[in-house]
Amino acid sequence: MSNIGSYEERVKNFNWKISEDELSYNAGDVINIGWYCSDRICQMGKADKLAMIWEGLGGKEKKYTFDDVRIKSNVIAQFLRDLGIKNEDRVCLFMDKIPELYFGCLGILKIGAIAQPLFSAFGDESLHVRLENAETNTIITQKKHVSKVRKILEKMPYLKHIVVVDDDGRKPLRERELAFNMDEAEDVNQFEIFPTKAESPSILHYTSGTTGQPKGVKHVHYSLISQYLTTKWVLDLQENDIYWCTADPGWVTGTSYGIIGPWSLGITQCVLDTGFGADSWYRFIEKNKISMWYSAPTAIRSLMKAGDEVVEKYDLSSLRHLASVGEPLNAEAVIWSEKVFGLPFYDTYWQTETGSMMICNFPGMKVKPGSMGKTVPGVTGGIVDPETFEEITEPNKGGLIAFRPGWPAMMRSYWNNEETYQSKFKNGWYIPGDKSTIDGDGYFWFMGRDDDIINTGGHLVSPFEVESALLEHESIAESAVVAKPDMVNMEVVKAFVTLNAGFKPTEELELEIMNFIRKRLSPLAMPQEIEYLEKLPKTRSGKIMRRLLRAQEWGEEIGDTSTLEDD
Ligand code: PRX
Repeated sequence: MSNIGSYEERVKNFNWKISEDELSYNAGDVINIGWYCSDRICQMGKADKLAMIWEGLGGKEKKYTFDDVRIKSNVIAQFLRDLGIKNEDRVCLFMDKIPELYFGCLGILKIGAIAQPLFSAFGDESLHVRLENAETNTIITQKKHVSKVRKILEKMPYLKHIVVVDDDGRKPLRERELAFNMDEAEDVNQFEIFPTKAESPSILHYTSGTTGQPKGVKHVHYSLISQYLTTKWVLDLQENDIYWCTADPGWVTGTSYGIIGPWSLGITQCVLDTGFGADSWYRFIEKNKISMWYSAPTAIRSLMKAGDEVVEKYDLSSLRHLASVGEPLNAEAVIWSEKVFGLPFYDTYWQTETGSMMICNFPGMKVKPGSMGKTVPGVTGGIVDPETFEEITEPNKGGLIAFRPGWPAMMRSYWNNEETYQSKFKNGWYIPGDKSTIDGDGYFWFMGRDDDIINTGGHLVSPFEVESALLEHESIAESAVVAKPDMVNMEVVKAFVTLNAGFKPTEELELEIMNFIRKRLSPLAMPQEIEYLEKLPKTRSGKIMRRLLRAQEWGEEIGDTSTLEDD
């Protein structure tokens, strides 16, 4: 029997109080995610239950019980409190998926500070804009990433401490750097958790927009109410499950469903801190007897590409439920997974801003391959007309996805950017910026984004950020960045550039530019192709027409070009 039981019944009788009651939370109480994910689980008699099975490079393994999670997060919390970090200070987590990242996140929350997780593959420029925007007080990182912080240190007077978790402290440390070893620190058994309330800020995730710099999406501790219940009902996690969320906590899936969801339910989860590999992933499932697996379409398509023979080498019979998020999950991938695993991937749709799942395929519900499913109980959603923002009730007609605000995990603002935050609300709806249809049975079918943001392998990349970074290369005069189709990543970044006088459009230069972006921004933002043009298409007012270049890449109709600049 699934946790949700009947979807229709749940929708009919829904109240967020169901989640509050299960978490013994009453309005006005203290609510701290760090406590809920560790201390509470121990108090419920699960102190000795395994919370995390971690595997790093070379098969190195570490295991932690819920009591370990409680103590280790206390150790980090105490260390931060001793440094003088206060509630609502921003503390960045800039690490690979090592145990310190997970315990650090809970430790930051336990002192009431705001956790700002950033993807460790970010280059110095990506790191800088995000730390600057949040005026981050402290960054917790590893030796292998500290050079990126050193590079931008001068520009960040507000950054007081750089905590390096794997420094043995033997070599003298540089300015503002501190060595911290979680395993050697003395246990902190009792820690006075900061009494955060429902609306106290918890996590600040940065997400890319079409224009301007990335936006800091502010979440609050009350988000737990949605994250707990959706983990229970959609991912269907049950007491004896072994769960694997493949996402990195540098992105929202890795925190909402890679830390908060499973641990607030007291579930054992696995973390694999190595890159993607079909063999290594299947081996990981076999070895740990993973039963619930939450992943992403690009990974699924890569597994498909690796072939069915690889699947057959492993015993994957422990799997009982699969789910996916982050980008369109094509019907072929669902059909393939049914064939090779005997289980379909259940698609889920949501965003950094929504904080928790919004449209899903639920256990027990008929999966229509290629559809995102139906709205989560407690969420009112539909599609609206892009001009009037009136709801479209006619089946199979395209429009913008829209949700009525008010679910617990909804973002509370964009950091220091109230104007953009307000612009997301129209006619009483929150508009996530995606297009969809809804069929006669209430299933959503994703059509595409309503803006120029590139979704590559489930990660959003802002064309604006890449274009700005390109202009910093000495050879580039102008740039336009669009998505180009890709079999595995669905979309990849493509750049069109014009060169400054004296530069030749060579292959060497193309590689040099690609590398430049990889280092400054990230491997995800790196253009997979650079096309040299004499001139970029522009409107008469001088705005570059990305739409035209994109249409050309996708073989689509170019549409209205009446505003195009004359030759
Ligand atoms: O365009 C949608 C796409 O990813 C965007 C959200 O990206 P992000 O904030 O990085 O969060 C990703 C993980 C929650 C959405 O606006 N997206 C997400 N899930 C799906 C999707 N597109 C199609 N199908 C999905 N299931």
